[in-house]
Amino acid sequence: MDFATRMSRLGTETAFEVLARAQALEAQGKSVVHLEIGEPDFDTPEHIRRAAAAALDGGWTHYGPSAGLRDLREVIAVYIEKTRGIYVEPEQIIVTPGGKPVIFYTMLMLLQEGDEAIYPNPGFPIYRSMIDFVGAKAVPLRLREDRNWSFDVDELASLITPRTKLIVLNSPHNPTGGKLDHATLRGIAALAEKHPFTILSDEIYSRMLYGGTHESIATFPGLQERTILLDGFSKTYAMTGWRLGYGVMTKPLAVHMARLMTNSNSCTNVFVQKAGIAALTGPQGPAEEMVAEFHRRRDRIVAGLNALPGVTCTIPGGAFYAFPNITGTGMASADLARALLEEAGVAALSGTAFGKYGEGYLRLSYANSIPNIDTALGRIGAWLEERMKARAR
Ligand SMILES: Cc1ncc(COP(=O)(O)O)c(C=O)c1O
Repeated sequence: MDFATRMSRLGTETAFEVLARAQALEAQGKSVVHLEIGEPDFDTPEHIRRAAAAALDGGWTHYGPSAGLRDLREVIAVYIEKTRGIYVEPEQIIVTPGGKPVIFYTMLMLLQEGDEAIYPNPGFPIYRSMIDFVGAKAVPLRLREDRNWSFDVDELASLITPRTKLIVLNSPHNPTGGKLDHATLRGIAALAEKHPFTILSDEIYSRMLYGGTHESIATFPGLQERTILLDGFSKTYAMTGWRLGYGVMTKPLAVHMARLMTNSNSCTNVFVQKAGIAALTGPQGPAEEMVAEFHRRRDRIVAGLNALPGVTCTIPGGAFYAFPNITGTGMASADLARALLEEAGVAALSGTAFGKYGEGYLRLSYANSIPNIDTALGRIGAWLEERMKARAR
């Protein structure tokens, strides 16, 4: 069968492939510690599960509006005002099955062939995949370890051309855990005064912070109208499998995104949306406890990684990923990730799964228990030491 040529431009997320390989090894009886997948290992809080069950029993099992249930959009509008300090109307919000469709729809709505979109590299692989898929030019913006995984605003400025239609930001950041600080956001805002780009601001990890407060580019003067803000429930409320996210944008853009929803999904699952209302209006204790636990794990894994031979690791300010520098091991990232999975029983991702500037790094998700993190660190340490001894012989 002949596939449309655009299919050859579609990328993927390596995390799912590594998970499959790790599960195949487990099926052969091998033990694997899973540090590859980016999802909280906690259960969805009970009051949210109950709200979904009550909605199911209450008959919320039919189609809903493509843009999302009005009552959920009202609650999201209040939440955005509270967390970002910007006024948003429900008509500016589109509810989607997870945050990911907002990425796809943004590219479909805004990018034409020949347009350029700047995206963070290393970064969430779906940005580049979707930019390529719609036929635009993906322009990597290098994030730098020595800048705490932020970037140089002058470097960003040098990448902007008359064809630059979109800039993708992601803070807190997958895979590095970096955050964009106020000065960087101010620098981007200054560039926006000179150039007419739109911004996709992926803030899915906005509540996963270990100190400080989250700041959105949409709060800068004139930028709310030029930003599509992505957020959702997957990470904050441990709801990855439920599929619930949203985009916040101008009303004209929201009309287009709702039409894309009509064409692709019809609507987001309505009893899941009812659970989303419970998530945002109910007790926040469980979400906060989860972040406190991630904080403990972050400290443990970063200290453990820094004690390994050939490995150094900066302290991530948010999300739940460590992105250690492994250049001191003398191995390429993909080779080390493969060897750790096959020989040490630790599933981690090569930094190159997040773009070419991820070479020299691994991504380890610490959404796993402290005993499992300790086991993984022990296994990696033993494997690295064995390898060094073998090389010295
Ligand atoms: C940076 C980033 N954006 C978006 C998403 C997608 O989230 P969801 O599961 O809600 O589609 C993820 C998930 O890993 C992510 O890491």
